[in-house]
Amino acid sequence: MKNNSWRRNGLPGWTYQSDALFQLEAEELFRKHWQFVCHISELNEVGSYKTIDIVNERGFVIKCEKNEIRAFHNLCMHRGSRVIAEREGICKRAIVCPFHGWSYNFDGSLRGVPNKDSFGETDFSEMGLRPLEIEIWHGLIFVRFKKSNQKNISEILKRFDCEISHYKMENMEPVDGSNWTDILDANWKSVRDVDNEGYHVRQAHPSLFDLYGQDYNDEPFFEGTSRSVGTFNTKPSKKWSVKRYRNIVENNNWLKLPKLQSRSWIYFGMFPNFVLGLYPECIIYYYEYPLSSTKTIQTGGVLKHRGESREKKIARYLSGRIDRDTAKEDQMLVKWSTEAVKSSAFNGFCLSDLEYGVKTYHDHLRKIIPVVNLNSEPIDYSLNEFNNKLLAKKEN
Ligand code: FES
Ligand SMILES: [Fe+2]
Repeated sequence: MKNNSWRRNGLPGWTYQSDALFQLEAEELFRKHWQFVCHISELNEVGSYKTIDIVNERGFVIKCEKNEIRAFHNLCMHRGSRVIAEREGICKRAIVCPFHGWSYNFDGSLRGVPNKDSFGETDFSEMGLRPLEIEIWHGLIFVRFKKSNQKNISEILKRFDCEISHYKMENMEPVDGSNWTDILDANWKSVRDVDNEGYHVRQAHPSLFDLYGQDYNDEPFFEGTSRSVGTFNTKPSKKWSVKRYRNIVENNNWLKLPKLQSRSWIYFGMFPNFVLGLYPECIIYYYEYPLSSTKTIQTGGVLKHRGESREKKIARYLSGRIDRDTAKEDQMLVKWSTEAVKSSAFNGFCLSDLEYGVKTYHDHLRKIIPVVNLNSEPIDYSLNEFNNKLLAKKEN
């Protein structure tokens, strides 16, 4: 529950530009938390695959015989080459390493080794691809590179099950060409900070404000998840694209959604980096990974229903237009946020109650990586060592 005395200053500036912290975040957050890969419809045929590259980890998901989907490290057991070179595609019969041609079955087991006799007494029985944890939630595929005490996706996102089921997301498919990727000169947490509050909507996002700015609401971040609701304004919109969009959506309810959902954009967030946006005509998603302490890759896409009507398609085109503007506006704010912490005049944030989501997200980070509580970067210790000391102290 909010009271007037909560901590309003945000994370200290050094946490947005420390290379040592980036390494720690890569390990504790990105390797040990579920990461989105793709929608199940992207793996239609046996042998179809999609890869994921994140914080020096490489993985892929693949459709096996019997319609099972499995996930593996994209790492050959011979000398560590990628076994799959492309971002997506279909393997015929087997996965063949492009380096020396070792081949693997779709279940990861080793299938063939060229010139096998040249390996002496080598025991090949344990030379299958290394599996990754995988979980599918309402058609979305997630993997995890390292085990951790983060719960399974079905538990983490359980509170959204009922609401998401109205959208029949497992029957959707990606919109051709909707996948986008941008590289930002910013720390990844600046992306989250901008995204975790709606206070800036009025000033920074004219189209969004015209759509739902009247009573946009960020609910408190709860056990690693968040929900925000933008219900369309009651007064008429002024911008032609927003007006036209609302006109179509408000005169249709393709999915027979409950009243609130049929007139709202609803966002679910999952710590540390995944956001799903439920719109009456489509679903959008986006997420980001750090490339370094000051470079971030942001990527996203759109899911649609098969056989959509012409009107629904126009609505999707119009919401896409609004979203493209919003993303550009946000990316500028994100870049400025990371620039800010380098300034000699930067002295922390001053958060309003409307930015409580930023604070609660930071609290979650503080719990997992307590070293971010320090006002300056510890330089006499390895950051990792220092963090472990703080964690041990907390447990005693
Ligand atoms: S590294 Fe894969 S076959 Fe040699
Ligand atoms: Fe924004």
